[in-house]
Amino acid sequence: MTAKVTWLGHGCWSVETPQGTLLIDPFLDDNPAAAAKAEAVAADYILVSHGHGDHVGDTVKIARRTGALVIACYEICEWLARQGVERTLGHNLGGGSQHPFGRVQLTLAHHSSVLPDGSNGGNPAGFLITLHQGTRLYFACDTALFLDMQLIGRGGLDLAVLPIGDLFTMGPDDALEAIKLLKPRRVAPSHYNTWPPIAQDAQAWAARVRAETSTEPVVLRPGESLSL
Ligand code: NI
Ligand code: MN
Repeated sequence: MTAKVTWLGHGCWSVETPQGTLLIDPFLDDNPAAAAKAEAVAADYILVSHGHGDHVGDTVKIARRTGALVIACYEICEWLARQGVERTLGHNLGGGSQHPFGRVQLTLAHHSSVLPDGSNGGNPAGFLITLHQGTRLYFACDTALFLDMQLIGRGGLDLAVLPIGDLFTMGPDDALEAIKLLKPRRVAPSHYNTWPPIAQDAQAWAARVRAETSTEPVVLRPGESLSL
């Protein structure tokens, strides 16, 4: 096993590696579907995809408690620094950085990114994570479908995490198209069932994934994990 990937509800994911735990978009304490509280989660790295409150979430309090390094676009890092977060590494789209666990690169995302107080959050992003054993994970985070997903999948993906909630992001139909562009070995749905406006039948979607693609769908409940 090179990583344990856990869905903590909404767009929040934990990736445990032998070289540390990555926490993605830690929206927990105000998240009705959260499987953990901000005070209880582990983090050596916190990845923030964009400025919306359901993604920045509890980043400030978790970063202060754990001393985790926050990886996000430059504007979000500057904003977090003003809230007292000491360790940040600002990126821009297409840029990446090397860490003990491997490499993280910020990918395109078609969305918006205003921070909770109205500040400019820069460009929204997704994350392509290459663990140093070569395992590759793609977290699309909040985005519409876009054709350049073909490029993200080109190097092979062990897991893609895609939103299926519709309304604010791709819905089930476009997430199915995304799988056809990304061609990941496995796919996990995200960003749905948190609130009624983004309710989806993930099992029905998974059946379509099995019927129409060669990707294996993995539908988790908040708190459940898969091993890579
Ligand atoms: Ni958003
Ligand atoms: Mn969102």
